[in-house]
Amino acid sequence: MKKSPRARHSQPNRTVSIVGTGSYVPEKILTNAELERLVETSDEWITSRTGIRERRIAAPGEHTSHMAARAAERAMEQAGITAEQIDLIIVGTVTPDTAFPSTACHVQRILGAKNAACFDLSAACSGFLYAVEVAQQFIANHTYETVLVIGADKLSSIVDWGDRNTCVLFGDGAGAAILRYRAGSHGVITTFMASDGNFGDILHMPGGGCAIPITKDNVDEKLNTLKMNGRETFKQAVLSMGSAATKALEQAGLTTDDLTCIIPHQANMRIIEALADRLEIPLEKFHVNLDRYGNTSAAAVAIALDEANREGRFKVGDYILLVVFGGGLTYASSVIQW
Ligand code: UT7
Repeated sequence: MKKSPRARHSQPNRTVSIVGTGSYVPEKILTNAELERLVETSDEWITSRTGIRERRIAAPGEHTSHMAARAAERAMEQAGITAEQIDLIIVGTVTPDTAFPSTACHVQRILGAKNAACFDLSAACSGFLYAVEVAQQFIANHTYETVLVIGADKLSSIVDWGDRNTCVLFGDGAGAAILRYRAGSHGVITTFMASDGNFGDILHMPGGGCAIPITKDNVDEKLNTLKMNGRETFKQAVLSMGSAATKALEQAGLTTDDLTCIIPHQANMRIIEALADRLEIPLEKFHVNLDRYGNTSAAAVAIALDEANREGRFKVGDYILLVVFGGGLTYASSVIQW
């Protein structure tokens, strides 16, 4: 039941736990060998420059909300909660089913989560972690009890399949988490979030908003597809994730030695290696799945969290660190005691 504002003020903040995770990727696999037939590229180039071997592509008619709802069902099952218990649904996405209604409202309809308030959050690949922080604020201050957070993207719908600089990098998928207060547990200890709008044009989709609406000419110029300055994005990714991780650890009063597992944004193996180097953390502590899924944008860190959780890469009481960056620029890092 929702608390009144007066009740909220009279109670101390409380810690918030991830009590269930889930993920979903589409069945269709697109390999590097298949991409060789689409653009002038090679398995050798893609593997050596990125670490990506294959990615998943949503079926025709399979939208972001469908993937998001499948991931949510798995998270709800693990958390042992029903759709009616969800107070709030936040979907981090840059590929919503529709400009409006929000993808979160589509997910609500599919799940039958009739008691939830719903909205989308736009922070590109950082969307899931930004949404975790928003959710934790609502629960910590007693506004809500149970929040469903989802990172979901169908980047195949905005990729220019003729641009070898970008089309080899991305895939589709969704990851979800249920956040709740759980007495006696530690949960999300801290999240550091930051943005720098000055770097907006290194990774963006120029068309489709009110600045460049969808017109035949704009579509002919492919302004409704993702554009990226790869080298600059690479550089900013290493810098921003390094600084976010360091700030989150400082806020938590921990060092890298305290961490059992690091779950980074899954964009490029060389970015993860550079981050490991910068933070002086052994690469083995990083959970990596980009070889199988490529970069799934807001879903990437959420899918990796679910995988690592189900594989038992950390146990109750362990400290883990999530760290992301994305278009905006946006970046963030959370320290969680599981
Ligand atoms: O969520 C965030 C999303 N984005 C990212 O994280 C991307 C960050 N950036 C990167 O991961 C890397 O910069 C890329 C993988 C995109 C590119 O790797 P790079 O080592 O920075 O390559 P480059 O852009 O410097 O390009 C080197 C060469 C160029 O040819 P020339 O000009 O040297 O003749 C490119 O045209 O590689 C060429 N190239 C390709 N060749 C074969 C670019 N894409 C491809 C390709 N296949 N797919």
